[in-house]
Amino acid sequence: MVETLDPSNQKPLKKILSGFERGRRPKITARRAYILGVFSCKGGVGKTTTAANIGTALAEKLGEGILLVEANLSAPNLGLHLGILDVETSMHDVMAGAAPIDKAIHTVGGNLQAIPGSLAYEEEIHYVDFKAKIEPLRSKYKLIILDAGPGLGAEAISSIKASDEMLIVTNPEIPTIASTLRTFRAAERYRVPIMGTVVNKVRGKNYEVPLSEVKKSLGWPILMSIPDDEKVRESLTAGVPVVKFAPKSSAARAFNELAERIYEKLGSKL
Ligand SMILES: Nc1ncnc2c1ncn2[C@@H]1O[C@H](COP(=O)(O)OP(=O)(O)OP(=O)(O)O)[C@@H](O)[C@H]1O
Ligand SMILES: [Mg+2]
Repeated sequence: MVETLDPSNQKPLKKILSGFERGRRPKITARRAYILGVFSCKGGVGKTTTAANIGTALAEKLGEGILLVEANLSAPNLGLHLGILDVETSMHDVMAGAAPIDKAIHTVGGNLQAIPGSLAYEEEIHYVDFKAKIEPLRSKYKLIILDAGPGLGAEAISSIKASDEMLIVTNPEIPTIASTLRTFRAAERYRVPIMGTVVNKVRGKNYEVPLSEVKKSLGWPILMSIPDDEKVRESLTAGVPVVKFAPKSSAARAFNELAERIYEKLGSKL
């Protein structure tokens, strides 16, 4: 008698499956990248520097699977920090609907990959939905780091909504800390957990807000304090994140330690 593929008849299926020995069945595990957004309300505090350095450090540690994404369309500097100056397809083309996101992925030496923006892009992008564009990349990476723009306008809010968790960067100065509180409130409003705060450009001067006060004001643990270090500015001119440009510098050591803490915190999510 011929066995048909009638769904009520389970025998053909069982026969097919029995062809696979238990241990030899193909193992298909869906990879699902974790999306970590780097934020600050005030501009210029060091979001891109932080994103580029933790991305570089984690790519060295974990191998491939790390992607940095430009989410600051107004002042897209991620490419400058990574030495990618002129790309054919950028995040701007993707957001304008002119190119698929895969086409905008660039390899930054070694294992790290990045989607830079375009400094030359002149047309206006009216609708920004980072989540919709980035979500399909989850199956290809372990960790996606979003380099958000400052403030709490449409771009930053779209980045918050696209993030699984937020890293907040601040400086030890009163105006920066005051505006950082607004980012914390936005995180709460959109129910995105905060991994912690990074206090960047610490000079240890007596006019700075002490770290204990920063912690008290923000009510959140400080993940790492990063010194103000000339090597960071030099590294930007070279287009190489300081963890690679000057690995022994104080800022590089702090960024490496920050990457280590992030790795510990993410643990099984990676
Ligand atoms: N730890 C540091 N020591 C010295 N200079 C630093 C440090 N961190 C960042 N900088 C410098 O501060 C400037 C701004 O840094 P960055 O571009 O990372 O800020 P940002 O928060 O991303 O800015 P934006 O809001 O425009 O996106 C750069 O010139 C950078 O080299
Ligand atoms: Mg930036």
